[in-house]
Amino acid sequence: MSKILIIPGSLRHPSHTCGLCADLAQMLGSLGHAATIFDQRETPLPLHDSVYHKAPAESPDAAVRSLVSLATEASGFILASPIYHNGPSGVLKNALDHLAIPQFAFKPVGLASHGGNRTSQAVDQMRLWTRGLAGHAIVTQVCTQNSDYAAGETGDPTVTDTAIRARMERFCRELSVMAQTLAVTRPALLS
Ligand SMILES: Cc1cc2nc3c(=O)[nH]c(=O)nc-3n(C[C@H](O)[C@H](O)[C@H](O)COP(=O)(O)O)c2cc1C
Repeated sequence: MSKILIIPGSLRHPSHTCGLCADLAQMLGSLGHAATIFDQRETPLPLHDSVYHKAPAESPDAAVRSLVSLATEASGFILASPIYHNGPSGVLKNALDHLAIPQFAFKPVGLASHGGNRTSQAVDQMRLWTRGLAGHAIVTQVCTQNSDYAAGETGDPTVTDTAIRARMERFCRELSVMAQTLAVTRPALLS
């Protein structure tokens, strides 16, 4: 069972972005993946110190080391962000700055965002970030707005819009297939 690491970029309680991530984790579980959400509301990360850029696992911070370990073990990622000032949040970017190419190289990355009438402004920028980390951004992306959700049992809202849920299923299937495919080809690509 391959592992998928999900990194939401909101610290809000309740958070649409975190609710979206919980729903995606459940769908990935149904496809046989072990999905872990790195929830920075529970595990806060310090601001990145570039001294550790080349050796992120040597960070003195236990939360950073945990993130690096989860990312290293993952066969794929989901990055999800609220729309902040026409782009992704600094919370998400700071988490990514704690990571580096060895954690992402030739792994699939699914991109999702919440806010701004389903604008793609954040995922467009996250696609560039993914290339900078040598990850493979998958084609399907998920962008939501408030009316796509209803109150959830665990505090965060859950996605109820039928068309968005169908897109999320397609997104998870693509991520799953790409995780399996790139796991086979990655050794050749890295050599
Ligand atoms: C610093 C900040 C900047 C924001 N900028 C935008 C924006 O440019 N466009 C927009 O539509 N909403 C913007 N918003 C609203 C957020 O997208 C909205 O609150 C979103 O629901 C947050 O997602 P969350 O529930 O996962 O925290 C901004 C919110 C904050 C806190």
